[in-house]
Amino acid sequence: MTDFIRIEKQEQGIAILTICRPDALNALNVEVLKELKKALEKLAHDREVRVIILRGDGDKAFVAGADIREMQSMNRGQATDFSRLGHSVCLMLESMPKVTIAAVHGYALGGGTELALACDFIMASEKAQFGLPEVSLGVIPGFGGTIRLARAIGTAKAKEILFSGHRFKADEAQSLGLIRQAFPHQEFFNEVLLFAKKISANSLHAIVSAKKLMNEFEETVGTHLKVDAEAHQFGSLFESHDQKEGMSAFVEKRAAKFTGL
Ligand code: CAA
Repeated sequence: MTDFIRIEKQEQGIAILTICRPDALNALNVEVLKELKKALEKLAHDREVRVIILRGDGDKAFVAGADIREMQSMNRGQATDFSRLGHSVCLMLESMPKVTIAAVHGYALGGGTELALACDFIMASEKAQFGLPEVSLGVIPGFGGTIRLARAIGTAKAKEILFSGHRFKADEAQSLGLIRQAFPHQEFFNEVLLFAKKISANSLHAIVSAKKLMNEFEETVGTHLKVDAEAHQFGSLFESHDQKEGMSAFVEKRAAKFTGL
């Protein structure tokens, strides 16, 4: 257990990795991302672990995005580095030599949807809510969400969601093909554990071999996106009026007035 990350190892090679910052709906600041990266590095080398379940603490959220309060005062360089850090966590999840399941029981917005998209599977309760609302803050998804969402549901639908900032619930996620099924909230985590156990009964060696091939076939987001190009674009928006206005408006709990500058 670190300040923000809890790892619980269960029988049958299952590890539950919980992001613990419920007061801020598990928003990802620099410290949380660094701790998450360390935890993933540790689990990647743990021979006992075959399946990792990633979830958020508290009743309300998986992860409500990158930390807007922390980002509000970032300059271009800091925002670029922040994007690189988030990318490195998502790329690590994507190429993990384990099976990864995002267990989404509440809000998974912005960086939360991006983390979930980097996992092998997203499982969701009926209370889950997804979305990439970054444009409503004057920025873009900074952790590879643009490409991963387009890859998961197709470019046209991804553009619609991204450009409109549309938040969608589990039933819509199901019809978009992002999840296979929305589970009743009470039974949800049990269903996640059952699925994890089903997978962990099989050969991890064979699964990882298949995962590697499938990732190579699709090409990783790093290859598609040129991580640095996105990090620079994300960072450059931190010199805009709209980023300052969008993030101040969130913190001040008011509607943003964008000027396009
Ligand atoms: N960053 C920082 N703090 C956040 C946060 C975030 N992303 N999301 C929620 N919080 C904080 C709130 O500020 C609030 O703190 P206070 O109690 O101190 O005011 C606390 O968590 C509880 O949140 P709300 O009172 O807003 O809860 P709600 O139930 O009324 O609304 C919500 C929930 C709809 C998720 C709303 O909190 C929300 O819209 N959050 C922001 C979602 C968002 O825009 N995420 C994208 C971030 S940008 C990003 O992720 C960029 C990237 O790709 C790198």
